This record gives sequence, structure tokens and C-alpha cells, in this order.
Amino acid sequence: MKYLTSISIYSHSNITFSLLKRLLSTNNKDGNLNLKSEVPIVKGLPIVGTAFSILAAGGGKKLHEYIGKRHQEYGPVFREKLGPIDAIWVSDPADMKLLFAQEGKHARHILPEAWLLYNETYGQQRGLYFMDGEEWWTYRKFLNKMMLVDSNKCFIESTTIILQDVLNKWKMFNGLLIENLETDLYRISISFMVSYLVGGVFEKCKEEVSNDINKLAYSVQQIFQSSVKFTIIPAKTAKLLKLGIWYDFVKAVDESINNANQLVSKLMEYKGDGLLKSMSTIQDVSDNMIKRLVIDFILAAGDTTAYSTQWALYTLGLYPEIQENLRKSLYTTCFWENELLNNILKEVLRLYPLAPFLTRILPYNTVLTNHIIPANSLVIMSMFSSSRNESYFKNPNQFNPDRWKRFERNKYCGVYEPFATLPYGFGPRSCIGQKLAHIQMCSTISECIKGFKIQTIEPVNIVLDLITVPDSNIKIKIHKIQ
Ligand code: HEM
Repeated sequence: MKYLTSISIYSHSNITFSLLKRLLSTNNKDGNLNLKSEVPIVKGLPIVGTAFSILAAGGGKKLHEYIGKRHQEYGPVFREKLGPIDAIWVSDPADMKLLFAQEGKHARHILPEAWLLYNETYGQQRGLYFMDGEEWWTYRKFLNKMMLVDSNKCFIESTTIILQDVLNKWKMFNGLLIENLETDLYRISISFMVSYLVGGVFEKCKEEVSNDINKLAYSVQQIFQSSVKFTIIPAKTAKLLKLGIWYDFVKAVDESINNANQLVSKLMEYKGDGLLKSMSTIQDVSDNMIKRLVIDFILAAGDTTAYSTQWALYTLGLYPEIQENLRKSLYTTCFWENELLNNILKEVLRLYPLAPFLTRILPYNTVLTNHIIPANSLVIMSMFSSSRNESYFKNPNQFNPDRWKRFERNKYCGVYEPFATLPYGFGPRSCIGQKLAHIQMCSTISECIKGFKIQTIEPVNIVLDLITVPDSNIKIKIHKIQ
């Protein structure tokens, strides 16, 4: 699932902004709003805005660094039109809290252009991420209870069965680089989802659906690989010019949706006690709607968990001492109660946030610490910048899981403002799969560290292919623990 898109949402002039500010100021009873100033604007060309500056700075792959520099220059809130994206960029967690508090009941975000085009062109109806308003809330409120509140014990018990095949395969690479790490992690991700959907009958259905899982993992990985090309040529242009990259994307999405459809139909026949059963209790829900929601869970889970797990293994392979401490602690504590593992994941997601930006379209005129933002503005929260800012984290670029330990009065050791890192977003529109993702990543890392010593062979750099990824394949050597 990709979170930053290239669609133009709003346009307004400085004049409307000033008028609005004056209007709000005169209506203001306590006078505080008079302290608000206009949002600084990064000047650019009329149609393309500052698109040439970002091209000169390395293009979309370096957007996190580019925006970080802009914040240093213009402060925590500024407005910049980057090609078709005309947005207010925000990096102060205090402002983010205010934004979330004013996002409204049906919080709205922007959607990736390629997906919107696909859905429009082929009349495809999609799941939660693409829904809005009452329809979105109808399903979201039921799913919140099923996926964020209730725990799924059968699912936790299945984790060793899910990971068995991949770990056995990795044993063959003793002393060598793991081949196709990414593909294996996509397969793990789909297997977890299947187990979550069917619950206790997972072991029974595992053999029958094993080929379906492999096929689906491959096609979901292809979606990611084809869609990253839209960071160079926008999807709209690729479609208009009938370029191969558009057709590759369409083929990968078609195949994934068809494969997921077939898999979910098979899983429904097993009548397990997992999420599928809980979803069937939603009032008036059809099998088609269940499939629509579940297929999007499968697509959303693929690259997010595969890349976050890779970043975690990569980091542990760079820090053998922390890895050894984790291994020791896992011999005495199970993965879901292991504080060190929990803190390692928090730290990995802080340094490598999969979604480097969070987006909202504001329903009302919104008041931040020093600014007033007009209704319908697109606001982009610069999570990459805030999660590496020394005002919010001690030695922010250092990997230090112990910063998340608490000391007196419940304060963290090296975190001044935990709200500066929001790997799963925040509020009613936050990630519905966060509990599942957490269990999946904890158990995968735990089994891996208990079975192998991990060694990262060479450092990589961070680039954005819409999500935060390494600039080259992560190379990890494993040594079997006797
Ligand atoms: C490490 C793994 C993951 C990360 C870092 C992640 C991150 C995110 C983020 C940042 C958002 C947007 C939140 C916001 O705007 O406030 C999101 C939304 C979403 N995620 Fe995840 N996610 C992960 C795994 C998953 C999994 C396993 C699923 C499968 C169920 C999933 C399904 C979704 C869906 C459906 C949405 C849209 C929710 C809505 O609009 O109501 N994610 N995720």
C-alpha cells in the first residue's frame, strides 16, 4: 500500500487565506487567534510549482531529505506546490496532535494516483483504504473491534507452523547470504493473513492453499515492483502514452485481485473461527463485501510487513550485541511479552517509517499552534523528519532500543516526544492491521533470532519508492545456532 500520491486536491489564493484569517480573528473571543500568522510559502513557477527543485535534489526518491531541508529553512509549517501536489507540510508533533483532533469523524486521506486510475478505468470497488464517509465508517467500526480490540489466540498459536517452511529453507543457507529474502517475507505475510482469516483450521487448510499463497505472494510483490516506476513517470502520463509500465501495473493488480479472490473463496469453505467468521456477523454484509475488504487487507499487508521486517533484520545484523541480548531474553520470555523486542521494533519503525508522510484533507478551518489552515487543505505530516529530530529524540539517528525504557514518573529514557513517530498513523483512520503486523513481525524476528545469528554484509541507504525502502538489496548472512 502506498501512501503518498500525486493528485492535486485543492487550490486557494493568498487572498482567501488572508480573508479567512481576518474572519477567524474577528470571531475570536479570547483573542488568541490574532497571534496566528500566515503559513510561509515556498515560491515556485505557476503550473509546476517547485517541481524542478525536487528533480534537482534527486527526485521523489529523496523527497524525505528535500522536505527535511525545507522544514529547516521555512520552519515546522510551510506550503509548497510540488508538481500537482499543493500541500501544507507539517513537522511539529504539537501541530500534528491539533490536526488529528480536528480531522472529523470521517477522516480523509489522499489516495495513490495509480490505484485511483486503475479503480476508475476498470470499475473496481475496493476496501477500507479507498472508502470514505458513512460507508467507510460502517465497516471500520466493526473491524476496529475485531482487529484492534479482540485478541486472536488461535492465530498466535499458529505462528510457528506458519514460519516453519521458510525457516527450514533458510537452514540450507547456513554461512551464506539468504537468497530471495524479500520473496520469502511476502510469502510469510500472506500466510499470516490466511491464518488470521481462518483461525484454528489453518493447519488443516495449509497444504491445500500453499500454492495459492505462493502465487499470490508473487503477484503482490509484482504490484510493488511495477508501481515504483510511477515515481519517475506519473501513472496518468504512463496510461495516456500507453506505456508498458502502466500495463505491467494493471497486469499485476488484475492477477493479485483474481488470485486473492480464489484464495478467499477457498478459505470461506473451511468455516474456521478466524476473522472471516467474525466478519460474517456484520449486519447485512454480503460475501462480496467481505472479499472486497479482505482482498485489500492482503494487498496492504504485503510490502508494509515485508519491508519493515527486512529493516528489522538488517538493523539487528548491524548490532550483534543487541542481537545477542535479544536472543538471550527470548529464551526466557515469549515474543509477545518481550520488552526488548518491542522496543527494537519501535526503534526500527522510528528510523525507517514505512509511511514517511501521513496525509489528511481537513474538513474544517483548522487551528494549529501558530497558523490557521483553511478547510479542504491537503496537509502532509512529515513523519520522516519528525522521527529523526533531536528536539524529540536524544541522538535521533542512533539505533537505541533502550531509549524506549521508562524511568521515574513513567518518562522514557531517550524520547522527549513519542508523538513524533507514528508508524501506523493515528486516529480513526490509523492502520487497521497494526496488531496483526506487530504479532507477525515479532514472531518472525523472534524465530529467526532464536535459530540463526544474523550478519548484515553491507550498509544500504534509504530511498523512497513511495514507501521507505533500501537503495539496493539487503544482504544478510545467516549462521545456524547449534
Ligand atoms: C509494519 C506494517 C504496517 C505499517 C507500518 C502500516 C502503516 C499504515 C499507515 C501509516 C496507514 C495510514 C494511517 C493514517 O493515515 O493514519 C495504514 C493504513 C492502513 N493499513 Fe497498514 N500498515 C502495516 C501493516 C498492515 C497490515 C498487515 C494490514 C492488513 C490488515 C494493513 C491494512 C491497512 C489498511 C486497510 C489501512 C487503511 C485504513 C483506513 O483507511 O481505514 N496494514 N497502515
